Formats: sequence, structure tokens, C-alpha cells
Amino acid sequence: MLPEALFIASDHAGFQLKEDLKGHFTARGWKLEDLGAHSEESCDYPLFAHALCAAVLRTGHRGILICGTGLGMCMTANRHQGIRAAMCTHEFQAQAARRHNDANVLCLGARITAPGLARVLADLFLETAFDGGRHQRRVELMDGI
Ligand code: RB5
Repeated sequence: MLPEALFIASDHAGFQLKEDLKGHFTARGWKLEDLGAHSEESCDYPLFAHALCAAVLRTGHRGILICGTGLGMCMTANRHQGIRAAMCTHEFQAQAARRHNDANVLCLGARITAPGLARVLADLFLETAFDGGRHQRRVELMDGI
């Protein structure tokens, strides 16, 4: 099942890929909220990661974060309790991040992942369901539950 809505954010390095993905999502009819950045002017990725994580935690919808490497966004996002951010460069990771880890944030590196692959990773992240079962217990153990 597709998510009802989706948040997306980037820094300056991820701006172009964010715009590309926005076109892709809009063409597929998904409701999308862009939390910035709104240009390629140099900016600080943690600010956008924090804003997106707050929106994901408030609504329960998923999010996509893009910076140059995907790493800074992912490190920042995973400081939020309840956020399970996965930095993916391969289809198998994007699928497993949903099936096994119930990831609610996908992180992409615009300087390492081409737009075509990024669209495939985003589609897998959005369309793949969590397997639950033994993975539910493991996800709860992440937060010490
Ligand atoms: C910006 O130059 C770059 O450091 C940032 O986009 C990201 O890759 C950080 O992890």
C-alpha cells in the first residue's frame, strides 16, 4: 500500500535530486510536502533533517532526505527516537530497510546515486511493506523496548 503522503528535504547538494524526485512523485500522483532547501545556496543539512524527522514523527508518514553523501542526513535523523533512517545505494537495501527494519526515512546521496537509481530506490522504499513477525521484536529492541 502506498503511503498517503510523503515528506522530502535536502541540503544544497541534494537540491537537484530532490527536484527530480518531486517530479517523479507528482507524476505518480503521490501527495508530497517539500521541507526545503529551496535552492542550491550552501546550507546546513542537520536543520533540514531535524525538520523532516519532526514531521515524520508528528504524522506517521514517511520521509526522504538527500544530501551529498546521504550520510550526514542519516546520522542526524537517527538521533531522533522513533526515526529509523536508512542510507541506501542498492535496491536490496531499500527493500530490506522496509521489510526488516521498518525504515521510515530513506537517505540518498546525490553525489553517489544517479537520478534513475534514486527513483527506483524511492519507489521500493515507498511500496515495500514491513514484514513484521520476528522483525517487529528486533525493531522494538532498537529502542530498548
Ligand atoms: C555538503 O558539502 C555535504 O557535506 C553534505 O551534503 C553531506 O554530504 C553531508 O553528509
